[in-house]
Amino acid sequence: MSIRVIVGAQWGDEGKGKIVDVLAKEAQHVIRYQGGANAGHTLKFDDKEVVLHLIPSGIFSSSGTCIIGNGVVVDPIALQEEIKTVEAMGVEVKDRLFISDAAHVILPYHKVLDKVKETQRGKYAIGTTGRGIGPAYVSKVSRVGLRMGDLLYPEFTKAKIREVVDEMNPSLETLYQSERLDPEAIIAQVEDAVEAIKPYIRNTTHFLHKALRRQESMLLEGAQGSMLDVDHGTYPFVTSSSPTSGGACTGSGVPPTALTHVMGITKAYCTRVGNGPFPSEEDNETGEALRKAGHEFGATTGRPRRCGWLDLVALRYAVELNGMNELALTKLDVLDGFETIKVCTAYRLDGKEIDFVPLRADDLSRVEPLYQEFTGWKGQTTRNVTQWDELPESAQTYVNWIEEQLGIWFTFVSTGPKREETIRRFSK
Ligand code: GDP
Ligand code: IMO
Ligand code: MG
Repeated sequence: MSIRVIVGAQWGDEGKGKIVDVLAKEAQHVIRYQGGANAGHTLKFDDKEVVLHLIPSGIFSSSGTCIIGNGVVVDPIALQEEIKTVEAMGVEVKDRLFISDAAHVILPYHKVLDKVKETQRGKYAIGTTGRGIGPAYVSKVSRVGLRMGDLLYPEFTKAKIREVVDEMNPSLETLYQSERLDPEAIIAQVEDAVEAIKPYIRNTTHFLHKALRRQESMLLEGAQGSMLDVDHGTYPFVTSSSPTSGGACTGSGVPPTALTHVMGITKAYCTRVGNGPFPSEEDNETGEALRKAGHEFGATTGRPRRCGWLDLVALRYAVELNGMNELALTKLDVLDGFETIKVCTAYRLDGKEIDFVPLRADDLSRVEPLYQEFTGWKGQTTRNVTQWDELPESAQTYVNWIEEQLGIWFTFVSTGPKREETIRRFSK
């Protein structure tokens, strides 16, 4: 029985969705544990492409349950849409999809707040996805949030929405010069979606504890990435939850002692969407070439992703932070056309070489990346290769070198966006 956490090892968009889709057929339960519809997890199979924002990425490949855990912030309107999309693809979600009654609800006013706060930040904007994530977690932590279980009590829900909107309106008007919100309009706006998702709400923590007693296997799916973690990432340029492995426990109710594997997902290079420090960024032709080859545009917002070389300092930090004991390398094929490949192995800060990530964003934005260069495998291709031995020799050298530096193996090497475009190494 394996209880495996899938965690982003960089700034998100590492290909978590693809790896979860590949692994989910071996798991009885797939559980999303944090974030919300800021996530965009892309799956490609049978000539179909689908981007999931809230529903766990096991919904197509597994026949088990898919759970939206208590650590997730759920936008009922976005979820209703997503359920429709999945069902239109011929997959029945009834009796398979469960939403934790303790997960917090994102309401339209959280999205309004997200936007007005970003506008007010001006040049210090975080570059959020505008999905209301930060304000929803603020409601949760300040104990005024509405939970999914509350939606089963319509009068309570309405009273809560009225109370929160009344409290919010004066600051919307005076602090943010924004229009007042009408609680009755908000209630009407979410009514249909709330009705549609009610049947999926239940106590998923108790459900998972029973599954653990029966020794059933689980895949805990993180959103975002370690460098966007609210505690351990490049604060304040982070998301408002804990994508790191600790968050998998608090966000699902699965205890730390139950975890058997922590798998980090990393691209063969690096990307970041939104603002904040990114030491190995190539804001030039090289970055453009990576963006083009990797189709690096946000799966949620469509924004161009910032691109750069693999940052081993940040990756080692993610390995240690999460206690990763497995890694998956994605998008190796994107490096196919490059003459030379670089990897950042250390930083220089104020003239001193350092091998760790400074936690002040200001410091991290000042570091100079120090690189090791590799000869690429231009002219040969890794795309769609499914056997390790069939990779070009210099691609093997590149991957093996990263493994040596980190002291962990890549259990998976992904050579294309489709399920089949995957090299599986070593035993399960
Ligand atoms: P996630 O948020 O971590 O699930 O990642 P995204 O779905 O946001 O972004 C990953 C993108 O890379 C998606 O468009 C995937 O279809 C694509 N992808 C995943 N693995 C590979 C790979 O090995 N090669 C290529 N070329 N694309 C990949
Ligand atoms: P997946 O799960 C990449 C980024 C935003 C912004 C910051 C805060 O697909 O990897 P938020 O809306 O969360 O308050 O924005 O975090 N961000 C992501 N970047 N992948 C994601 O999710 C992201 N979710 C949020 O761009 O910089
Ligand atoms: Mg994504």
